[in-house]
Amino acid sequence: MAASQDKPLVIVTRKLPDSIETRLSELFDTRLNLSDEPMSQAALAAAMREADVLVPTVTDRIDGRLLAQAGDKLRLIAQFGTGVDNIDVESALSRGITVTNTPSVLTEDTADMTVALILVMARRTNEGARYLRERAAVWTGWSPTWMLGSRIAGKKLGIIGMGRIGQAVASRAKAFGLEIHYHNRHPINAATEAELGATYWENLDEMLAGMDIISVNCPHTPSTYHLLNTARLNLIQPHAYLINTSRGEVIDENALARALENDQLAGAGLDVFENEPTINPRLLELDNVVLLPHMSSATLEGRLEMGEKVLINIRTWVDGHKPPDRVIPAIL
Ligand code: 8YV
Repeated sequence: MAASQDKPLVIVTRKLPDSIETRLSELFDTRLNLSDEPMSQAALAAAMREADVLVPTVTDRIDGRLLAQAGDKLRLIAQFGTGVDNIDVESALSRGITVTNTPSVLTEDTADMTVALILVMARRTNEGARYLRERAAVWTGWSPTWMLGSRIAGKKLGIIGMGRIGQAVASRAKAFGLEIHYHNRHPINAATEAELGATYWENLDEMLAGMDIISVNCPHTPSTYHLLNTARLNLIQPHAYLINTSRGEVIDENALARALENDQLAGAGLDVFENEPTINPRLLELDNVVLLPHMSSATLEGRLEMGEKVLINIRTWVDGHKPPDRVIPAIL
């Protein structure tokens, strides 16, 4: 292990909460990115030649090409984030580099935002707020037939991906009176399914055709890339809303823009995009979408807990043990 006083060199690619940076600096020989400017591929390659441990985020593309240029010292990639679709995990593992992430600590926050987007879309809260901000002077007051949204209680919610976040969405949605349906590689355990009153659909197409609201909560992997393509979007009912707080790549964004332009679905609430930070200009033109800047997990508490997990993963590895949050491709 390389070293200033035998401490591993840890390179952090983005600005993390102050207390996390302080602790990282106390424990390790840590190089921070106080400017928070995302690193170029060249800067990442240079960091990976030098570091023992890299702490990247979703905004860093750690692909096979970059990993091939990594130095022999690089032994741990401790991602600050749950999704690891920005990392070629197989290549990292084949080079003997351990990859860790920060599961569980952003489950509740992401599920909260998913429900928020369901309500925002169905109850037109963004439209109402925008109306008052822009037109308060001409507002004539309450009207019996104005700003009517749709009630969510009694509606069918179809969750794509019933892992931790999907289940947290389901339990919240159940409390709002939504009927829970889900598609997953396998059914969840029977007791949880019964508690949620959830119906399993092995066939995604069949589920899509019957839902009033659809929520994407599966990770982006090669098998979920463009899972919602033109053909599947065509199956969705015209009154339905589509919510995505997972990864933009799961939906073919051009196909979605086309479907929304043609009123093939009622609207979409999106927190993630295919080519972040670039937003598809067609989506920006549409009134029936609410677009958020990838902020579903953005709570102070969540970021601190993510940082804590990064610290524990690195520290455990430095001490010669297996870090708790190792990413194992079979369960990706
Ligand atoms: C994180 C996320 O904040 O953890 C994830 O998978 O999508 C985010 O909301 C981000 O990834 C930080 O790297």
